[in-house]
Amino acid sequence: MHNGTSITQFIIEEQRRIKGASGDFTSLLNDIVTACKVISGAVNKGALIGVLGSAESENVQGETQKKLDVISNDVFIKSNEWAGHLAGMASEEMDDVYKIPSQYPKGKYLLVFDPLDGSSNIDVNISVGTIFSILRAPEGVTDAKAEDFLQPGTQQVCAGFALYGPSTIMVLTTGNGVNGFTLDQSIGEFVLTHPNMKIPADTSEFAINASNQRFWEAPVQRYVEECLAGKTGPRGRNFNMRWVASMVAEVYRILTRGGIFMYPKDTKDPGKAGKLRLMYEANPMSFIVEQAGGASSTGRERIMDLQPEGLHQRVPVILGSKNEVEKVVSYHK
Ligand code: AHG
Ligand code: MN
Ligand code: MN
Repeated sequence: MHNGTSITQFIIEEQRRIKGASGDFTSLLNDIVTACKVISGAVNKGALIGVLGSAESENVQGETQKKLDVISNDVFIKSNEWAGHLAGMASEEMDDVYKIPSQYPKGKYLLVFDPLDGSSNIDVNISVGTIFSILRAPEGVTDAKAEDFLQPGTQQVCAGFALYGPSTIMVLTTGNGVNGFTLDQSIGEFVLTHPNMKIPADTSEFAINASNQRFWEAPVQRYVEECLAGKTGPRGRNFNMRWVASMVAEVYRILTRGGIFMYPKDTKDPGKAGKLRLMYEANPMSFIVEQAGGASSTGRERIMDLQPEGLHQRVPVILGSKNEVEKVVSYHK
């Protein structure tokens, strides 16, 4: 028995506060939660059910897909295509918009997701996760095209991520703060364990893939150099460093104890403005981080204000504890 609030109860109670809510959104969120439980089960069983390793295929971004990338994508589609809440889906792992099959009713929302984030970590048994974002379909659209998805992050109705770590955690925002739930495996329910998560404004912990250092721009070079200089440097204190290579794990850490995460603009591949994807990673995580009192920027502009130009567009990401993000932004000025 758990005495806490289940995610189902939480979502229904949130819905009651919204005037005129039809229950569609609640039901959509329930289907997403179910999909994450299924993925959590597959990640947890791993080699026992033969889901580790490469799928020997490439996604639209030219990355080799893992078996679990493909499986998680399928799980998300199967869980969410049938209920009649969606006018389309878009995923990091699919070239084009996923059309809701003709036998199913259509709905007013758009679902955007990164089915498995941090997939380079699957085979080494380090935390991975799922990121999702819900948008409203433009008025009258029941069969969404790519351009219907290209809405700034400020238009998100909901964003969340599941983290498949030592515990399976779900973090959610609908624009009214951030709440965290832990999956109680014995009852198959997420239970509210981290109400009203807040990111401390100050931090002495940063996260960046230092192997890209030679490609960074001057402002990021300066910021990291000053952190590394520690107590006797310009910052006057020592900094700690982490890099999990799973954005879900980094953002969860920042929600828990603060920190700054950077995948900045670099010159590694002149064709790419950054590594992380605006629609599947940067926007949903920015919504969560801002709702928890943190900040999120490309270094030059607020991520959620960007007008997306393509479904798979990449952007620089600097997010986390407000005062540190603002410092990095000020170095870009
Ligand atoms: P994905 O597995 O969905 O492709 O995302 C991986 C992302 C992100 O989660 C992480 O922060 C970053 O890529 C790691 O990049 P490096 O491998 O360059 O460290
Ligand atoms: Mn990802
Ligand atoms: Mn992914």
